[in-house]
Amino acid sequence: MKKRRVAILISGRGSNMTALIEAATAADYPAEIVLVISNVASAPGLAFAAKASIETLTIESKSFGKDREAFERKLNDTLLAKNIELVCLAGFMRLLTPWFVQQWQGKMLNIHPALLPAYKGLHTHERALADGAKTHGATVHFVVPEMDSGPIVLQGEVPVMAGDTPDTLAKRVLAVEHRIYPEALRLVASGKVDVASAPT
Ligand code: GRF
Repeated sequence: MKKRRVAILISGRGSNMTALIEAATAADYPAEIVLVISNVASAPGLAFAAKASIETLTIESKSFGKDREAFERKLNDTLLAKNIELVCLAGFMRLLTPWFVQQWQGKMLNIHPALLPAYKGLHTHERALADGAKTHGATVHFVVPEMDSGPIVLQGEVPVMAGDTPDTLAKRVLAVEHRIYPEALRLVASGKVDVASAPT
């Protein structure tokens, strides 16, 4: 089996990145994580990736100021130079332009902490609680130019419990994220799911 070459883009903690790295150590996993890029130099996730002997790079978006495309050209050139085939956004807190998204159309996944199309954007747990939602969860989807949209690869649901706070709910959802992201990457890397077959 030829493993697909994957880069993970992070900005922070990197717990989803860690789940992907750990899953990809299995001999029969159809993808290998060859590169982790952070747009924030102090992202704690970088240390874990380095410890796992994965190449890490920082491309600081801050230093490009408002020039989004210059940052993204550098990002894109780097991914191409490393022969990356699939990109996983994992807590990557930077909006991507349609140009960049188009370069990776059908080859870039994101995880969002809500049952899309519900609760796009930030503060998903607070908003689910404020609405009195009975269930909540996480979604892995192909990235399209519109934020937190795009064909869905996998979703995982959790109950909202009486007395939940944003933190307790986030913790329950995060456990699901760590289960579904590796499974979604498996489906995409093995060709069982592609952008055309996934439901929007
Ligand atoms: C996760 O909740 C993910 O769904 C969202 O950002 C958070 C990143 O956490 N996109 P981590 O860096 O993977 O720990």
